[in-house]
Amino acid sequence: MTNQANPLENSAAGGEALDLAGRHLVLGLSGGIACYKSAELCRALIKAGATVQVVMTEAAEQFITPVTMQALSGRPVYTSQWDSREANNMAHINLSREADAILIAPMSADFMAKLLHGRADDLLSLMCLARPIDKVSLLVAPAMNREMYAHPATQRNFVQLEADGARVLGVGNGFQACGETGDGRMLEPEQLLEDIIAFFAPKVLAGQRVLVTAGPTYEAIDPVRGITNLSSGKMGFAIARAAREAGAEVTLVAGPVGLPTPRGVTRIDVRSAQNMLDTVMDRVQGAAVFIATAAVADWRPATPSTQKIKKDGSGHAPQLGFTENADILATVAKSAAARAGKLFCVGFAAESHDLAENAQAKRLRKNVPLLVGNIGPDTFGQDHNALLLVDEQGSTEVARASKLSLARRLVQEIAARLAAPAASTRKG
Ligand code: CTP
Repeated sequence: MTNQANPLENSAAGGEALDLAGRHLVLGLSGGIACYKSAELCRALIKAGATVQVVMTEAAEQFITPVTMQALSGRPVYTSQWDSREANNMAHINLSREADAILIAPMSADFMAKLLHGRADDLLSLMCLARPIDKVSLLVAPAMNREMYAHPATQRNFVQLEADGARVLGVGNGFQACGETGDGRMLEPEQLLEDIIAFFAPKVLAGQRVLVTAGPTYEAIDPVRGITNLSSGKMGFAIARAAREAGAEVTLVAGPVGLPTPRGVTRIDVRSAQNMLDTVMDRVQGAAVFIATAAVADWRPATPSTQKIKKDGSGHAPQLGFTENADILATVAKSAAARAGKLFCVGFAAESHDLAENAQAKRLRKNVPLLVGNIGPDTFGQDHNALLLVDEQGSTEVARASKLSLARRLVQEIAARLAAPAASTRKG
């Protein structure tokens, strides 16, 4: 078995461990035009720290060459069960025993049918059948024409494949190589990467419902102008992603930001603080955790104009009166569920000075068990941040790191508090 060092493997960036460091994946390609995306996927997995062994079916070789996949993975590709490079001539056993997971991307309709019947007439299907089912997970990324995807046989096969222990990663919707439009496209490499990373994450919030607010709000002055702030939404989106990775069912209520929705997260876009409050109150029932990261405008113009406010030539600016917005976090923290300890509320505090004192005072004022402090001007729009976790015990610094890594740490902290038997940890 070849096992040389991979020249494409990255070392940890900025001192943070890579998301897939230490993971070894078999990337299986079956025949489909989506094989062109598998090259990018292979590269993305390796950039994330994984080692990747590519296995291709004969049909996959019609779409992309083993040379491409070898160059990207840094390992010779396996295509045949008779590969004489294996001393024991059992590539199907050796490759599957080494892997943390097997990812079939793309999985054609034909290959899926093969898996379903336990057929084993080529290396990839043989390897899937021979894998130790409890130790080596099988994840599949289907790719096929929309009619093939919708066919009852295919849908039936998905159900059975899941029942047999495989994880079906879903499909994308859109323009297909055949010229038709619909469901059945293979997910994009970055989506698959996010799913694989989530797959390996510890499920510390399994089955819990988590509601997150993120981004700025926008308060209209007139139909073309409004008041907003510099919040990018990155921290809230990272928290939504981290909570989903941890197994939670996540709803993200987002103010106006241009960020992509994390995989597996339900996103609801809102504009004003009032929209955000209404949406949160609609969705908070049944949630176990509420995390308020949004930079909600404290005030809104009292009487927004329905028409664009024009200059009147007098040189005087229009006088805007303001009304205070409801405090969403404080409102949720007052709800019966929060008071009964069934809803764990987490606030954020963007301060410009005296972080520890201001954050502790804000935590008590809003009556939440955990408040996350940061220095606002240092974090808005940035990819990195440093946090201060403030609870009734005092405060703990979390050193500067990427927002995703901070979000994962915060999710662990929340999960630990949810698991703690003492009801006192849930009270402000
Ligand atoms: N928050 C909220 N609704 C508001 C204002 C704030 O839900 N109308 C939440 C934020 O999402 C955050 C926390 O309250 O979790 C603190 O927000 P921040 O803007 O730091 O504090 P303010 O309450 O606005 O207080 P101040 O302006 O005095 O710092």
